[in-house]
Amino acid sequence: MPLQTAYNPAEDISNLNGKVIVITGGTTGLGAQTIRTLAQHRPSQIFFTGRNVSASESVIQAGKAISPTTTFTFIPCDQNSLSSIQTAARLITSKTPNLDILICNAGIMASPPGLTADGYEVQFGINFLAHALWIKLLLPSLERSSTTTSSSSPSSNEPSDPRIILLTSTSFQIAPAAGIIFSDLQTPQENIGFQAKFTRYGQSKLALVLYAKALAKRYERVTTVAVHPGVINTGIITEQPFWAWLWLRLFINLGLLGAELSLEEGAYTTCWAATSPRSKDLVSGGLYEPVGKPIADTKQSGDELLQERLWEWTQAQLEAYT
Ligand SMILES: NC(=O)c1ccc[n+]([C@@H]2O[C@H](COP(=O)([O-])OP(=O)(O)OC[C@H]3O[C@@H](n4cnc5c(N)ncnc54)[C@H](OP(=O)(O)O)[C@@H]3O)[C@@H](O)[C@H]2O)c1
Repeated sequence: MPLQTAYNPAEDISNLNGKVIVITGGTTGLGAQTIRTLAQHRPSQIFFTGRNVSASESVIQAGKAISPTTTFTFIPCDQNSLSSIQTAARLITSKTPNLDILICNAGIMASPPGLTADGYEVQFGINFLAHALWIKLLLPSLERSSTTTSSSSPSSNEPSDPRIILLTSTSFQIAPAAGIIFSDLQTPQENIGFQAKFTRYGQSKLALVLYAKALAKRYERVTTVAVHPGVINTGIITEQPFWAWLWLRLFINLGLLGAELSLEEGAYTTCWAATSPRSKDLVSGGLYEPVGKPIADTKQSGDELLQERLWEWTQAQLEAYT
């Protein structure tokens, strides 16, 4: 069933002329679709990351066909490694002084127990900590945009309204009872819950919700929003091992995870959050689902002490990366 919404990206996204956008995980799925949707509004530059070089070429071709005036640049990066992000972020800042929109989209779901190259629980490392580093390294470029006109087109006279969008999931509601198990984050967390691989996913997605709030408090000139895009049949579902896929499909078909959206609809909430004017309906630190509906906090996502603890823990982990 099509999504019931008045949102129409063709009309509701303003002209993005002059805007510079970075999107992590843009090679396929929702990231690639978000690039195609935003490209229709002619931003100046879209940088996108991922590991799959051949898929990146198709994304660039499709983007160019939509917006020949936009520069599309693939930045290879593996979120499994913090130094890979540091290299990628340096490459981006060497190419553009300012940045208008950072979309933290890359993600994995329900992967087997494991550690990142830096020794963190793999879903927490790729989904959350990697994005915290992207944000740390690109925040100066976003803040610079907030004091100038649109980044690459100062002549437009439009004040820039920089954004950070964090792709979370309603799975943040299945995080462990304590929210984030800090003492174990440098272990594979094999026994974190009944369906441990989904609990670990929930924990990583809870961290993104908490971090959006923590950023909103500290960086008032940048609008930071967490979004659940809906349920969409992308690689994150289709590439699950057979039994996990079967259970997910059963839950989706029974409507237990919410309505299933098309790929185009799956990009709506991200595009809405990235481009709609800041208002009472779009507040920094907010958490939204399709399209622009606020999601109520759980005990864990509304826990300010947990939010502060995550902030402090994260700054300590990333201290060496500048
Ligand atoms: N689909 C849904 O129903 C749904 C629901 C809620 C939330 N979300 C969230 O939406 C986001 C996008 O997911 P999707 O549905 O589009 O999944 P997808 O089709 O599997 O795409 C995932 C993207 O993340 C990138 N990625 C994965 N691991 C990476 C790594 N180690 N380093 C760098 N990039 C990596 C992939 O690029 P490469 O393969 O090129 O590295 C790809 O571009 C995720 O954060 C997901 O949690 C999705």
